[in-house]
Amino acid sequence: MSQQPQAMVVNADLGRDTISRHIYGHFAEHLGRLIYDGIWTRKSAAEPWRIRDDIVRALRAIKIPNLRWPGGCFADYYHWRDGIGARETRPSLVNNNWGGVTEDNGVGTHEFMDLVTQLGAEPYIVGNVGSGSVREMSEWWEYVNQPGGSPMAELRRRNGRDAPWNVRFWGVGNESWGCGGNMRPEYYADEFKRYAGFLPTYGRVRPFRIATGPNDEDNNWTEVMMREAGQMMDGLDLHRYVLTGSWSKKGQATVFSEAEWAELMQKAGQLDEILTRQSTIMDRYDPARRIWLIVGEWGTWHQTEPATNPAFLYQQNTLRDALAASVMLNIFNAHAERVKMANIAQAVNVLQAMILTQGDKMLLTPTYHVFEMYTVHHDALRLPITLDAGRYTYGDRAMPAVSATASRDAAGRIHVTLTNIDPNQARDVGASIRGQHVTLVTGRVLSAETMNAHNTFDQPDAVHPARFDGAKLVGETLTVRLPPKSIVSLELR
Ligand code: AHR
Repeated sequence: MSQQPQAMVVNADLGRDTISRHIYGHFAEHLGRLIYDGIWTRKSAAEPWRIRDDIVRALRAIKIPNLRWPGGCFADYYHWRDGIGARETRPSLVNNNWGGVTEDNGVGTHEFMDLVTQLGAEPYIVGNVGSGSVREMSEWWEYVNQPGGSPMAELRRRNGRDAPWNVRFWGVGNESWGCGGNMRPEYYADEFKRYAGFLPTYGRVRPFRIATGPNDEDNNWTEVMMREAGQMMDGLDLHRYVLTGSWSKKGQATVFSEAEWAELMQKAGQLDEILTRQSTIMDRYDPARRIWLIVGEWGTWHQTEPATNPAFLYQQNTLRDALAASVMLNIFNAHAERVKMANIAQAVNVLQAMILTQGDKMLLTPTYHVFEMYTVHHDALRLPITLDAGRYTYGDRAMPAVSATASRDAAGRIHVTLTNIDPNQARDVGASIRGQHVTLVTGRVLSAETMNAHNTFDQPDAVHPARFDGAKLVGETLTVRLPPKSIVSLELR
């Protein structure tokens, strides 16, 4: 059953802010089967690790703009010098954050830079504040960026790389309020300034200094950081995960009720208010909006899959995850004037992954398809919209049923992405496009029969985008019938 047509206005004449492509960034931590036996593979321990071409192709297809590395919590444990030079001389370490497994440092700076070069993505490196030193971080920065004539540039050369890589995005610690050192914001603000002060400009690369941001809605953290360290900061990195149940008893990825569907969607939607509050604080100290609000870790977090190492955070990924991602991407886009970067956690085999692997096989998750559908919004001009397509209610939870993003690309095409989180009802949306004459609409849709539909190694294409014929243009009015639990992407010309 569908409801009466509802109102949406796309203001094609009022665009002001660009949707930064960096909102569609990714994250690769030394955790579980992401780096080893994920992006990198080898046939035997005697061989060096090599990057999987199929993964590179898949990530290039979603125009991956940047990749955050090496953590996460691992970043404040990582000593970069252990990961350079001849592989047989690299020391091992125990990855105490993630299962106590032995890490042989086979993937280090050169291997990571090789990956981002193949991907055509910008690196976002997170340095070690928690267990490192100012000198260690400063020398890493010098190693990757100093063109010549310095001890670290010479060391890089001896390791086979002449030219600097010109890395600009630089994280000064990770979650310094938690696994990165359990610091108070006042203490971390001072530490941040000390570390950030030893990241000089080299050649044409000026550091883009990213501070640890708040855990979720910790407004006090942001207030203190902006007040004490705003002048030395280019980005503030907030982390936000959504889950059902509690941190100690999380819900499952593929087995869940409609109540849990509604819970996850509501938590995804709450990001809007969190970002509004954060932006309000930042606006007070930085009215010109120079400092980026970055959501450096975000996504869904479920119980790990049965018979997998719980410390490896391997979870399946259903249509529900895709819808939650779409809701949150719409929110980032709506805050495009302040939110300029985000990194979903994580790229392969960990948490809300784009790609799952099993031996030589790999599959693209429903969330991957969302990222593919949103590539049209990368660096496009956001078009302000008003939208009210009714509410989705379940028990005492009520939330907007439909959210959306509209943008205009460099070729003048308008792209409208609509997300209907109602798992039961189609929604009819009547939309007027103001300020631009459009005569043609085409579309694609991502949906499935069941809330927990997902791709498996036996059925890797169970959930994938299809052609959409539910949009009609009559004069200047567009009518769209959004299927239940769907994401619809429209192109208007
Ligand atoms: O993404 C997994 C972990 O979650 C990261 O290492 C940490 O930063 C966060 O708490």
